[in-house]
Amino acid sequence: MAEYDLVVRGGEVATGFGTTRCDIGIRGGRIAALADRVEGGASTLDAGGLLVLPGGIDSHCHIEEPSRGGYVSTAGTPPVTVNEESFVSASTSAFAGGTTSVVCFVPQWKHEGILPRLEDYEQRAARGMLDYSFHQIITDPTPDVLEREVPLIVAKGIRSLKVFLTYEPLHLSDEEYIRVLVTARKNGCLVTVHCENYAAIKWRTEALLAAGMTSPKYHAWSRPGIVEREATHRAIALAELVDQPIQVFHVSCAEAAEEIARAQHRGLKVWGETCPQYLTLTAADMDRPGFEGAAYMCSPSPRTAEEHGRVWEMIRRGTLDIVSSDHCGFSMGGEHGKASAGRDASFDAIPNGIPGLAARLPILFSEGVSKGRITLDDFVRLSATNPARLMGLAPRKGMIAVGADADLAVWDPKKKVTLTNTLMQHAIDYTPYEGLEVTGWPVATVRRGTVVMRDGVVQAEPGTGQFLPRGPYAMATPRGVLANGFDAAPAPG
Ligand code: URP
Ligand code: ZN
Repeated sequence: MAEYDLVVRGGEVATGFGTTRCDIGIRGGRIAALADRVEGGASTLDAGGLLVLPGGIDSHCHIEEPSRGGYVSTAGTPPVTVNEESFVSASTSAFAGGTTSVVCFVPQWKHEGILPRLEDYEQRAARGMLDYSFHQIITDPTPDVLEREVPLIVAKGIRSLKVFLTYEPLHLSDEEYIRVLVTARKNGCLVTVHCENYAAIKWRTEALLAAGMTSPKYHAWSRPGIVEREATHRAIALAELVDQPIQVFHVSCAEAAEEIARAQHRGLKVWGETCPQYLTLTAADMDRPGFEGAAYMCSPSPRTAEEHGRVWEMIRRGTLDIVSSDHCGFSMGGEHGKASAGRDASFDAIPNGIPGLAARLPILFSEGVSKGRITLDDFVRLSATNPARLMGLAPRKGMIAVGADADLAVWDPKKKVTLTNTLMQHAIDYTPYEGLEVTGWPVATVRRGTVVMRDGVVQAEPGTGQFLPRGPYAMATPRGVLANGFDAAPAPG
């Protein structure tokens, strides 16, 4: 019997601390050997002349997410809508783009507990091929949810709670947000936060609509950077008060990132994520003719080309240390997509979100590494190692090391590709990155030792993705620094 199930031969292996030319011996889905020469593989994957990167971890993806009574549209959607991307189509798309694990979202519907939705979502996720973990969205933090249900989901291995500070009906008041922070602190969870000011956006939206300014481009006008900055400041201040680690999701602009930088400077456990859309798309994209602008509509809004440069600077400084996709696809056609309220709907009635699962790594590599804005080590950290660490998935995921899962993206750093929707291999009928030229492309993807994509052809058995349970971990542990030394919410016992 062969000593290894697979040997990845002759690649330039990216460790996050430089590269080294070596073979990788894989046994039982894990990396078993890293050496100049590894013999005895039942099969071989030739990586000569190519980079071997840790499989991407996308810690912010909306996949097959059911919604009720309006998800991201203030106008509401049909009673129950399941996000168009299934776990099977999302897995295909992720593998096509070099990503092997995701963290996606279990919804909570107002006036309901979290367990019924979790049970449903577990069944959906189990049908895919990607490895996965969950963030639990909290929209209705009742005592029963916080005191009885959260400990139960933590026992199942879910270690992050997601809250929205905007959107009807998802947004939390300050008081509700504090209660979630306290619960997370007691249970060893990270809190991830969508930072935009609900009341400010509502006020501006009403004024825009009253003035007849209804087309997609006014989405950006309804939520300028200041609403993101204010909510980021508040989210951080309240987290500091409670002494609870948080991650600020999808930071679109430097003014919000500066709030994170200040917090980090003071030693707070606050992390910031950004996404490819805030490095490539602009508010002007939403000013395309007719309904076309809806294709670029996400929240926070894409800003300007100048802002892209400032966001890159915040990445280089380490203030923003994860680049996720915030994949949240709605097709331009069909009943449940962007046009669910009609093609002449006002901007506030158009679902927010864009697809980006497959495009994330090629865009980050091309705009970042190929254009000299970041190093290859930065790329590895932003796309895999940092999400693994912050989500409590390390050391199993996010690095190429003996004992880690053999999740790899074999990467041609010179290959030039023009992005098209076909290449994305997702269920959505468009990509906002159509026509973008990238340098650097995944030529093979390996998930736990199985070659699941080769030259763009994805081959993986539905149902082979694994749930990734998370235990207690240091990054989600409070600092133990409390105002006046007074713990307003001590853990029981
Ligand atoms: O526009 C976005 N980002 N849609 C997805 C939901 C969210 O806000 O993360
Ligand atoms: Zn999101």
